[in-house]
Amino acid sequence: MSKAIDQATQELLFTQANTPANFTEAPVSDAQIHAAYELMKWAPTAFNAQPMRIVLVNSPEKRAALVERVMEGNQPRVSTASQVAIIAADTKFAEHMPTINPGMAGVPLWKNTEFTNNLANTQSWLQLGYLILALRAQGLGVYPMTGIHNDQINAEFFADGQLQTVAVLAIGNIDETAARPRNPRHDIETAITSI
Ligand SMILES: Cc1cc2nc3c(=O)[nH]c(=O)nc-3n(C[C@H](O)[C@H](O)[C@H](O)COP(=O)(O)O)c2cc1C
Repeated sequence: MSKAIDQATQELLFTQANTPANFTEAPVSDAQIHAAYELMKWAPTAFNAQPMRIVLVNSPEKRAALVERVMEGNQPRVSTASQVAIIAADTKFAEHMPTINPGMAGVPLWKNTEFTNNLANTQSWLQLGYLILALRAQGLGVYPMTGIHNDQINAEFFADGQLQTVAVLAIGNIDETAARPRNPRHDIETAITSI
C-alpha cells in the first residue's frame, strides 16, 4: 500500500491551498492553533533546536500596536483576522538543549553567538514553513507577512532582545467566495537539476 497522502489532503495542503484573499468572521480558537503546533513540532530542525516561538496577539491593545508596525497593505488583515501571530526566533534556544538534545548540550557551539543567532533565524524560518502547512492541515487559512517593521515590533514586543521577529501570520477561516488568482510555479526543468 502506498504511504503517499491522498489527493484531497494534497489539495488541502498544497494545490488548492492558496494564500487566502479574505477570511470569514468565524473565530479560530487557541485550541486549533495548539492542535497545529502539536503536529508541526515533530518536523525536523538542525540539532533539534526548535527555536521558533509563536506569540498570539489577542488583546485589542496589543493587536492595535502590531497593526501600527506592519506595512500599510497588510494592516487590514492584521487588524481583522481571527488570530494573528508574531513568529519569532528565540536567540536563547540553546538553554533548552539539556532537555531537547541532551547529547549535544555540552558542545562549545552554543557559546558562539554568531552561530546561534544564525541557527535561530534559519531554523525558525524552517519551522514557519512547517507551521503554515500544519495550520492548513487544521482546515485553516494562513496569510504570512514579511511586509512588517521588524525593528519596531522587536522594540514594542520583545524589548529584552531575546526574541527576534521573523514574520507575522494572519490565521482564519477561508472565505471561499473571495477567490484570488494564483501566480504560476516553476516547472520541474527550472527547479530541479540532476547532475
Ligand atoms: C514568508 C512570506 C511572506 C509574505 N509576505 C507578504 C506580505 O507582506 N504582504 C502580502 O500581501 N503577501 C505576502 N505574502 C504572500 C505571498 O505573496 C503569497 O503567499 C504568494 O504569492 C503565493 O500565493 P498563493 O498561495 O495564493 O499562490 C507572503 C508570503 C510568504 C510565504
